Amino acid sequence: MTKLIWKPGTMVYPVPAVMVSCGSEPAEYNIITVSWTGTVCTDPAMCYISIRPSRFSYNIIRKNREFVINLTTKSIAFATDWCGVKSGRKHNKFAETGLTPVPAAKVNAPLIKESPVNIECIVKEIKELGSHHMFISEVVAVHADEEYFDKKSGLFRLSDANPVCYIHGKYYETGKFIGKFGFSVEKKNKRNRG
Ligand SMILES: Cc1cc2nc3c(=O)[nH]c(=O)nc-3n(C[C@H](O)[C@H](O)[C@H](O)COP(=O)(O)O)c2cc1C
Repeated sequence: MTKLIWKPGTMVYPVPAVMVSCGSEPAEYNIITVSWTGTVCTDPAMCYISIRPSRFSYNIIRKNREFVINLTTKSIAFATDWCGVKSGRKHNKFAETGLTPVPAAKVNAPLIKESPVNIECIVKEIKELGSHHMFISEVVAVHADEEYFDKKSGLFRLSDANPVCYIHGKYYETGKFIGKFGFSVEKKNKRNRG
């Protein structure tokens, strides 16, 4: 197989496209869409978001050192994109998208009610990497929408919420179930043995 060599670039895909909500009071509330985000530690639970200093949200998060990561779904994909192309400098993003701000449990920033999972974060370290500054943050509370808990097993089924992912400039809903963690080493049941 022949491969083309590209110049160095951002090619780790798929990634999430989350909405990060910030602001310590309603007049300051804002939402920024972020794809440079992820988990960096399990215990303590830690996440990062990387933001360009030119974003309106950057100074809000840098000043308050608190924010909420809101996972996104097909039903809020339009608002997710909109919050990623419009700036809070000119728009009240909660009012204009119709998304609902809800008080958080531990941080001074609103949750987005319409998101199935809201992750409250406190900034521990800011790494000024280059175009983007990375906010390495501790997770202090997680809210999960009751609607997606399986009534019988009690398990949380985020896949039922139709989560959105982002691949090289395009949004996708998540696809078909392939297997669970460790399926590659699971013993096959007798019927399936060759
Ligand atoms: C799918 C998507 C992902 C984005 N990811 C990032 C990101 O990781 N970091 C960033 O600084 N901007 C990112 N942006 C751009 C900001 O969301 C955008 O500039 C936004 O208008 C900033 O809003 P603000 O000025 O109100 O803070 C992304 C935009 C989209 C649509």
